[in-house]
Amino acid sequence: DQKSLVLVKPDGVRKHLIGEIIARFERRGLKICALKMLVMTKDQAKYHYAEHVDKPFFPELEAFITGGPLVAMIVEGPNAIKAIRTMMGVTDPIESTPGSIRGDFALDKGENVIHGSDSPEAAEREIKNFFKPEEIY
Ligand code: GTP
Ligand code: MG
Repeated sequence: DQKSLVLVKPDGVRKHLIGEIIARFERRGLKICALKMLVMTKDQAKYHYAEHVDKPFFPELEAFITGGPLVAMIVEGPNAIKAIRTMMGVTDPIESTPGSIRGDFALDKGENVIHGSDSPEAAEREIKNFFKPEEIY
């Protein structure tokens, strides 16, 4: 099975979507094997979004992602990475299909409710940013 690092971003927490998002994964048959709430530090944000640090939108992204509590979890299952990316919808919620998480709950590209790893390599590095091995069940 694959593992994906999923974040319910600060806007998702503010919009009371933690339970809704976890319920969708559980009903799909995916397993939650680690879970915590935290406020991301700037160092954690730079590590998590390393590929975007030099982009013009990074200061806005960093302020947003560190600006309030978020929920980090590891979600596990067969082809979990692809399954979760499809359930999330695409980066810009306006282009996301209704029925997807972003397509149902977001309108803003900067505040799009959820993150999910985009490859097994990304999942492995992103998981290390939030969880110690003994926190993963
Ligand atoms: P993540 O799961 O959060 O990584 O989203 P993604 O993989 O669908 O998109 P990508 O990795 O390309 O971008 C990472 C995040 O940066 C997006 O989810 C957005 O929150 C943010 N982002 C991307 N493009 C823009 C932009 O043009 N403006 C702003 N403000 N944020 C952006
Ligand atoms: Mg991404």
